[in-house]
Amino acid sequence: MKRILFAVAALAIGATSVLAQSDPIATRKATMKKVGDSVAPVGKMLKGEAPFDLATVQTALSTIQDAAKVLPALFPDTAKTGGDTAALPHIWENKADFDAKYAKLGKDAAEASAKITDEASFKANFPAVTKNCGGCHELNRKKT
Ligand code: HEC
Repeated sequence: MKRILFAVAALAIGATSVLAQSDPIATRKATMKKVGDSVAPVGKMLKGEAPFDLATVQTALSTIQDAAKVLPALFPDTAKTGGDTAALPHIWENKADFDAKYAKLGKDAAEASAKITDEASFKANFPAVTKNCGGCHELNRKKT
């Protein structure tokens, strides 16, 4: 059983990396969308529009950490335009800085994940994570 699970996981990882190589724009858009979808219900909790739910918060934080690891490689020099991308040239003019922003996003999400245990610690620590989103989009993503 373990062996089968491993084989399935390896296939899934293989398929993802092949897709990333063949279509980095679609892959990064889908990855960022997954982050957005996981953060949306948490944003409602922050505003008091939905009840606090620790599991949803922690799922969003782990989705963010996973995404932050793979995203820098999904902005290769060969994928600056096309595919309905909203990425701005600023990314490749400052690629090291752009990559560092994803690293900081991942680090902040890991730190928040360790600190958040209840509603009060959630309200105190989650905003430090989402600050990264707008901070990067402002410079690097076309406004729609
Ligand atoms: C280091 C920069 C950076 C950070 C940090 C970042 N993003 Fe993005 N995001 C981008 C770029 C660039 C795009 C446009 C990608 C494209 O169209 O090719 C994007 C696109 C998106 C999209 C649109 C995806 C689609 O459907 O095309 C969503 C939603 C999104 N980001 C949510 C978030 C959220 C939520 C956070 C914070 C938790 C975040 N992003 C953090 C750079 C960043």
